[in-house]
Formats: sequence, structure tokens, C-alpha cells
Amino acid sequence: MSLFISGGTPLCGEIAVHGAKNSVLPVLAATILHPGISVIENCPDLSDVHSAISILRHLGCRVQREGTRVTVDATELCCCNIPDSLMREMRSSVIFLGAILARAGCAEMYFPGGCELGNRPIDLHLSALRELGAVIEEEGGRICCNAPSLVAREINLCFPSVGATENIMLAASRAAGVTRIRNAAREPEIEDLARFLRSMGISVHGAGGSVIEVECSQKTKDPMFSVMPDRIVAATYLIGVAMTGGEALVTKLVPEQIAPITSLLRESGCNVTVEKDRIFLKATKTLRPCQTVRTMPYPGFPTDAQAPMMAYATQCDGTSIFVENIFDNRYRHVCELIRLGANIKVEGRVAVVEGKNELHGARVSATDLRGGAALVLAALCAEGESRIDEVCHIDRGYESIESNFSKLGAKIVRREG
Ligand code: EPZ
Repeated sequence: MSLFISGGTPLCGEIAVHGAKNSVLPVLAATILHPGISVIENCPDLSDVHSAISILRHLGCRVQREGTRVTVDATELCCCNIPDSLMREMRSSVIFLGAILARAGCAEMYFPGGCELGNRPIDLHLSALRELGAVIEEEGGRICCNAPSLVAREINLCFPSVGATENIMLAASRAAGVTRIRNAAREPEIEDLARFLRSMGISVHGAGGSVIEVECSQKTKDPMFSVMPDRIVAATYLIGVAMTGGEALVTKLVPEQIAPITSLLRESGCNVTVEKDRIFLKATKTLRPCQTVRTMPYPGFPTDAQAPMMAYATQCDGTSIFVENIFDNRYRHVCELIRLGANIKVEGRVAVVEGKNELHGARVSATDLRGGAALVLAALCAEGESRIDEVCHIDRGYESIESNFSKLGAKIVRREG
């Protein structure tokens, strides 16, 4: 499947943001901890969510979906392994490791392997689980874990890894005592996972800060939970409105979670009005450049918004500099943006965008999830017709991107090549 986009129309109107991919994935993994029924509302319809549900079903859970409500019955688990085929479908399946280990006392999966963003090591996950008492053998790409009993520890993360923090939280829920995580990731999705665990009866304190405490809880209760809005999707919509010269209201978001993005849009001249759960943005004709965008762990500028913001920078008058500090190889969208007429140079972790570029329609290919979203944004600004292949990358994290952008007036359709 490909997206066919006719550029040049300002995005205008109103759009609501769907549930957060990077919250619902660890929450779905966490349902394994409770031998009962978990109800999750505001679950987005994404291919990564389908993959996570396939893993839950493989493990023996019964999963039902009605609209945005997902019900997981994890009363019976029939196995504790994730086959390579399911691991390949979604690299972040490693997030199931801590939960399976906590529930079953054993877990087996494969190394996630590299992905579009470069190497995806899981050394921080494995060393933390070993500290909690897991015996982990690595052979031929396979990870075999045994933990008849997990014991609470104080774990110091050398880097505030989001996935490692989540895996430790899930394993710690069955580690005797109180586990303390220092230098924990502070992303809002971590707070959402803590909220879900508390709704299950597991005591978690400090999420959102650098020190998180999780108390062992053998008894859990049926949780009812609603997933937070996706802050990166919200940022993508606002960036799209700003760079196409439109004006729109984006609802169902948490403004402070995207403050790094809205402050850049305001600095470059857009009129940004923030209310409780919505943001109104009116673009300005001439956009000032972004200066320097350095990706950092939360609450710094999010690495997932780097590619969409780079597309935006092509429409700004002047030089914008990007420094990608989180992933080794997160500039694969650059050569595709150049095919659309962007003027970008990359040197290691630094990318320099010389705007404003008059973009023109071209045939390009999505390289990864956020890089693909950046290509959609650039094509919406380009003169003429563009075609974006490999849309499967975009579908991992954006619900029907073509129908959502069409709601804002974009000329975009999905069809076979
Ligand atoms: C999560 O990935 C998100 N994925 C990513 O979103 C996001 O970009 C990232 O956090 C940073 O915010 C999900 O939540 C499913 P990390 P994760 O562990 O957990 C290195 C998207 O587009 N590292 O914080 O993998 C790692 O290689 C995706 O929605 C180790 O070296 O991120 C990377 O360079 C992309 N060893 C850096 O840390 C480890 O054991 C950040 O990784 C773990 C990570």
C-alpha cells in the first residue's frame, strides 16, 4: 500500500488525538501480572497494538476488542515464550520480558535485533533483571530467563532507558520487598504505566521522577484503565498545521507533555493558544528557523518528534540545526526529504537544514515510523503529487493517518501502488 498526496492545501479544522502507542504497549504487557480481567479504554487501533495482542493470545490470554476498549483475561497462561516471528513483528516486544518473568517465573524470547533506528541493545534490561534475581542465558540470539523467586533491589540505571524502566517496574511487582529504581525514565508513559499498576493494586511511587519505588504485591484486582493521549501524534498534527500555513484545534492532548514542541512553534512565529486538554494553532506566513533542536530524555525535546520537526524546518526561513542524542541512526528520513527538495546535510549526530525549501512532489519511501510521518508532512507542503511507499511503518504508530489528515482538509488517499 502507498499514500498518494496532493500538496499545497493548508490544514484547517479540528482533530482529536488517539491513545498513546508507547503507553498502551507496556500496559498490555502488564495485564499478564493479574490472573483476572483487565479493561483498557482509549486503546489506539495500531499495528503495534495488534502485535502486542497476538503475543498475549500466544501466551494464553483471551483478548477481546470492541472499538477502543480492549479486555484481557490473563487468568490462564499456557506458555512463557515469545516466538521469533512475533519478536520480529515488533522490536519493543522485549517489554513483555519483565511481566512474563514476574508471573511465570520463567521467560524465553529472542533478541529484538537491530531496527530502522540502528542498534536496539537491551543490556540495561538484562542487567537489571539479573540484579532482581533472574538467571539469564543468552545463546544464539535467544534469551532464556529463570527466576523462581525475584528479590527487591536498588537499581541504578546508567541511562534513563524507557523500556528498561518499564521492564524493571513490571518484574519488581513480584520481587519480595520494595524495589527502588534510580535514574528512571521520566516519560509520561512511565507515569501512565504506574497509574495502571496502581489500578491493579500494585503500589508504585515516584513515577515521573528519577526515583521510582515498586512494592511486591502478590494479590491484584481487576483494573479499569484509560490510556493517555499520544503526545507524539499530537505534536505531528500541530507541526503539520503550522508548516502548511493552516489553523486548527487539536483536542484530547496534555499540553505540558509537548511543551518543547509548542515553544518551538511559538518561537518561529505561530500563534499557539493552550487550554486544559486542547491547543489551537494558527500558522504565520513566514516561519523563523528552529535554531538548535537537541533530542533528550523527557522532559527534553523528544527524539520521536525529531523527524516531524525536521520536515517543519524545511519550511522555515533560515538554518535549523538538529542533534540526535538518543538513537544511533535516526536520520534515515533525510535522504527521502531531500528527494522532495529539502536542503539538509548530516554529519554524525548533527543535521543542518537550510530553509526555506520549495518542496516538489516525488515518490519516496517511509524508512521508519516517525520518519514516515515526516514524509507525509513534507508531501503536504510540496508542490504537486507525491507517493509514499512502505506505509506499514507509519501504521505502527498513527491510526489511519490519511483519514485523520483528510479531516483537516489534506488531499491524501491510500491505495495499492
Ligand atoms: C521507547 O523506546 C519508545 N518505544 C521509543 O519510541 C522512544 O523513541 C524511546 O523510548 C525514547 O523515548 C516504546 O515505548 C515502545 P530507550 P526504548 O530504552 O524503550 C539505548 C517510537 O517512535 N539503550 O529509552 O527502546 C537505546 O539503544 C519509538 O514510538 C541501550 O543502550 O528507548 C537508545 O539509543 C521509537 N541499552 C537509547 O538507549 C538498553 O538496554 C534510548 O532507548 C536500552 C536502551
